[in-house]
Amino acid sequence: MILDSTNNVISYTKNPAKIAMAVVRDAIRDRHNLITLEWFMRTSIEPAMFAISIGHNRYSHECLQNFRYFNLCFPSPEQVKEVIICGTRSGRDIDKFALENLTHFPGKLAKLPILRNAAANFECLVTTQVGSGDHTIFVGEVKYAWFDRTQRVICYEDLKT
Ligand SMILES: Cc1cc2nc3c(=O)[nH]c(=O)nc-3n(C[C@H](O)[C@H](O)[C@H](O)COP(=O)(O)O)c2cc1C
Repeated sequence: MILDSTNNVISYTKNPAKIAMAVVRDAIRDRHNLITLEWFMRTSIEPAMFAISIGHNRYSHECLQNFRYFNLCFPSPEQVKEVIICGTRSGRDIDKFALENLTHFPGKLAKLPILRNAAANFECLVTTQVGSGDHTIFVGEVKYAWFDRTQRVICYEDLKT
Protein backbone atom coordinates (compact mmCIF):
# COMPACT_ATOMS: atom_id res chain seq x y z
CA MET A 1 0.00 0.00 0.00
CA ILE A 2 1.49 3.36 -1.01
CA LEU A 3 0.38 6.94 -0.42
CA ASP A 4 -0.40 8.76 -3.71
CA SER A 5 -2.42 11.72 -5.00
CA THR A 6 -6.20 11.53 -4.63
CA ASN A 7 -6.65 11.72 -8.43
CA ASN A 8 -4.26 8.82 -9.08
CA VAL A 9 -6.01 6.61 -6.55
CA ILE A 10 -9.45 7.57 -7.95
CA SER A 11 -8.26 6.63 -11.49
CA TYR A 12 -7.07 3.28 -10.15
CA THR A 13 -10.40 2.46 -8.48
CA LYS A 14 -12.98 3.91 -10.86
CA ASN A 15 -13.49 0.93 -13.21
CA PRO A 16 -15.69 -0.90 -13.88
CA ALA A 17 -18.08 2.06 -13.93
CA LYS A 18 -21.56 1.90 -15.44
CA ILE A 19 -22.53 4.83 -17.62
CA ALA A 20 -25.98 6.39 -17.66
CA MET A 21 -27.67 9.43 -19.14
CA ALA A 22 -30.31 11.71 -17.64
CA VAL A 23 -33.08 13.30 -19.64
CA VAL A 24 -34.04 16.70 -18.23
CA ARG A 25 -36.32 19.51 -19.36
CA ASP A 26 -35.69 23.21 -19.84
CA ALA A 27 -39.10 24.44 -18.74
CA ILE A 28 -38.29 28.03 -19.65
CA ARG A 29 -37.25 27.37 -23.27
CA ASP A 30 -39.65 24.42 -23.62
CA ARG A 31 -37.07 21.82 -24.75
CA HIS A 32 -35.44 18.63 -23.48
CA ASN A 33 -31.79 17.88 -22.86
CA LEU A 34 -29.56 14.85 -22.20
CA ILE A 35 -26.46 14.57 -20.02
CA THR A 36 -24.04 11.64 -19.80
CA LEU A 37 -23.35 10.53 -16.22
CA GLU A 38 -20.88 8.38 -14.37
CA TRP A 39 -21.84 9.70 -10.94
CA PHE A 40 -25.16 8.15 -10.04
CA MET A 41 -26.32 5.54 -7.54
CA ARG A 42 -29.32 3.72 -6.08
CA THR A 43 -30.08 5.26 -2.70
CA SER A 44 -33.27 3.55 -1.43
CA ILE A 45 -35.01 0.18 -1.78
CA GLU A 46 -38.59 1.24 -0.92
CA PRO A 47 -39.36 3.58 -2.49
CA ALA A 48 -36.74 2.95 -5.17
CA MET A 49 -34.58 6.07 -5.48
CA PHE A 50 -31.56 7.16 -7.53
CA ALA A 51 -29.18 10.06 -6.94
CA ILE A 52 -27.40 11.85 -9.79
CA SER A 53 -24.52 14.27 -9.28
CA ILE A 54 -24.53 17.23 -11.69
CA GLY A 55 -21.82 19.90 -12.08
CA HIS A 56 -22.93 23.44 -11.27
CA ASN A 57 -21.97 24.77 -14.71
CA ARG A 58 -23.94 22.16 -16.70
CA TYR A 59 -26.99 23.27 -18.68
CA SER A 60 -28.73 20.21 -17.15
CA HIS A 61 -28.14 21.69 -13.67
CA GLU A 62 -30.02 24.83 -14.73
CA CYS A 63 -32.84 22.64 -16.15
CA LEU A 64 -33.17 20.64 -12.92
CA GLN A 65 -33.58 23.79 -10.84
CA ASN A 66 -36.77 24.66 -12.72
CA PHE A 67 -38.22 21.26 -13.63
CA ARG A 68 -38.04 18.68 -10.83
CA TYR A 69 -38.06 15.46 -12.85
CA PHE A 70 -35.42 13.40 -14.63
CA ASN A 71 -35.32 10.12 -16.50
CA LEU A 72 -32.30 8.02 -15.67
CA CYS A 73 -31.50 6.07 -18.85
CA PHE A 74 -29.08 3.17 -19.21
CA PRO A 75 -27.86 3.43 -22.82
CA SER A 76 -27.12 0.36 -24.92
CA PRO A 77 -23.96 -0.42 -26.95
CA GLU A 78 -25.60 0.94 -30.11
CA GLN A 79 -25.78 4.38 -28.46
CA VAL A 80 -22.08 4.75 -27.57
CA LYS A 81 -21.46 7.54 -30.12
CA GLU A 82 -24.40 9.54 -28.75
CA VAL A 83 -23.29 8.95 -25.13
CA ILE A 84 -19.93 10.54 -25.96
CA ILE A 85 -21.53 13.53 -27.69
CA CYS A 86 -24.01 14.03 -24.80
CA GLY A 87 -21.03 13.93 -22.43
CA THR A 88 -18.86 16.42 -24.31
CA ARG A 89 -21.28 18.93 -25.84
CA SER A 90 -23.68 21.20 -23.97
CA GLY A 91 -27.38 21.44 -24.68
CA ARG A 92 -26.81 25.20 -24.62
CA ASP A 93 -25.13 24.76 -28.03
CA ILE A 94 -26.80 21.74 -29.68
CA ASP A 95 -30.11 19.90 -29.67
CA LYS A 96 -29.04 16.46 -28.41
CA PHE A 97 -32.40 14.93 -29.26
CA ALA A 98 -31.68 15.50 -32.96
CA LEU A 99 -28.84 12.91 -32.77
CA GLU A 100 -29.19 9.47 -34.40
CA ASN A 101 -30.09 6.46 -32.22
CA LEU A 102 -31.92 8.64 -29.71
CA THR A 103 -35.41 7.90 -30.90
CA HIS A 104 -37.87 8.35 -28.09
CA PHE A 105 -41.47 8.34 -26.98
CA PRO A 106 -43.23 10.21 -24.14
CA GLY A 107 -43.01 8.70 -20.67
CA LYS A 108 -45.89 8.34 -18.22
CA LEU A 109 -44.89 10.68 -15.39
CA ALA A 110 -43.90 14.12 -16.59
CA LYS A 111 -43.82 12.91 -20.20
CA LEU A 112 -40.06 13.32 -20.43
CA PRO A 113 -38.76 11.33 -23.41
CA ILE A 114 -38.01 7.61 -22.91
CA LEU A 115 -35.04 6.45 -25.01
CA ARG A 116 -36.36 3.61 -27.16
CA ASN A 117 -32.96 1.98 -27.91
CA ALA A 118 -31.70 2.10 -24.31
CA ALA A 119 -31.43 -0.93 -22.02
CA ALA A 120 -33.57 0.77 -19.34
CA ASN A 121 -35.23 4.04 -18.33
CA PHE A 122 -36.35 5.13 -14.85
CA GLU A 123 -38.79 8.04 -14.56
CA CYS A 124 -37.92 9.97 -11.39
CA LEU A 125 -39.43 12.80 -9.36
CA VAL A 126 -36.79 14.94 -7.59
CA THR A 127 -37.47 14.84 -3.85
CA THR A 128 -34.23 16.25 -2.40
CA GLN A 129 -31.08 18.03 -3.52
CA VAL A 130 -27.80 18.27 -1.65
CA GLY A 131 -24.71 20.37 -2.37
CA SER A 132 -21.50 18.37 -2.92
CA GLY A 133 -18.49 20.57 -3.70
CA ASP A 134 -18.76 21.71 -7.32
CA HIS A 135 -21.71 19.37 -7.99
CA THR A 136 -25.30 19.09 -6.75
CA ILE A 137 -26.77 15.69 -5.92
CA PHE A 138 -30.38 15.43 -7.11
CA VAL A 139 -32.24 12.55 -5.48
CA GLY A 140 -35.18 11.18 -7.42
CA GLU A 141 -37.92 8.74 -6.50
CA VAL A 142 -38.60 6.21 -9.26
CA LYS A 143 -42.22 6.37 -10.41
CA TYR A 144 -42.06 4.20 -13.55
CA ALA A 145 -39.38 1.85 -14.90
CA TRP A 146 -38.91 0.52 -18.45
CA PHE A 147 -36.47 -2.00 -19.90
CA ASP A 148 -35.59 -3.95 -23.04
CA ARG A 149 -34.31 -7.44 -22.33
CA THR A 150 -32.56 -7.59 -25.73
CA GLN A 151 -30.21 -4.73 -24.75
CA ARG A 152 -27.42 -4.51 -22.16
CA VAL A 153 -26.06 -1.63 -20.09
CA ILE A 154 -22.67 -0.11 -20.93
CA CYS A 155 -19.54 0.68 -18.91
CA TYR A 156 -16.93 3.39 -19.20
CA GLU A 157 -14.64 0.92 -21.02
CA ASP A 158 -17.24 0.52 -23.79
CA LEU A 159 -16.75 4.21 -24.69
CA LYS A 160 -13.18 3.48 -25.82
CA THR A 161 -14.12 0.90 -28.49
C1 LIG B 1 -18.27 9.27 -19.44
C2 LIG B 1 -18.74 10.59 -18.91
C3 LIG B 1 -19.28 10.68 -17.65
C4 LIG B 1 -19.72 11.91 -17.12
N1 LIG B 1 -20.27 11.97 -15.87
C5 LIG B 1 -20.75 13.15 -15.40
C6 LIG B 1 -21.40 13.21 -14.13
O1 LIG B 1 -21.61 12.21 -13.44
N2 LIG B 1 -21.85 14.43 -13.71
C7 LIG B 1 -21.70 15.56 -14.45
O2 LIG B 1 -22.13 16.64 -14.01
N3 LIG B 1 -21.08 15.52 -15.67
C8 LIG B 1 -20.63 14.35 -16.15
N4 LIG B 1 -20.03 14.30 -17.38
C9 LIG B 1 -19.88 15.55 -18.15
C10 LIG B 1 -21.20 16.00 -18.82
O3 LIG B 1 -21.86 14.91 -19.43
C11 LIG B 1 -20.85 17.07 -19.88
O4 LIG B 1 -20.26 18.20 -19.25
C12 LIG B 1 -22.06 17.51 -20.72
O5 LIG B 1 -21.59 18.16 -21.87
C13 LIG B 1 -23.00 18.45 -19.97
O6 LIG B 1 -24.08 18.74 -20.81
P1 LIG B 1 -25.12 19.92 -20.54
O7 LIG B 1 -24.34 21.23 -20.47
O8 LIG B 1 -26.03 19.87 -21.76
O9 LIG B 1 -25.84 19.61 -19.28
C14 LIG B 1 -19.61 13.08 -17.91
C15 LIG B 1 -19.06 13.00 -19.20
C16 LIG B 1 -18.64 11.76 -19.71
C17 LIG B 1 -18.08 11.69 -21.10
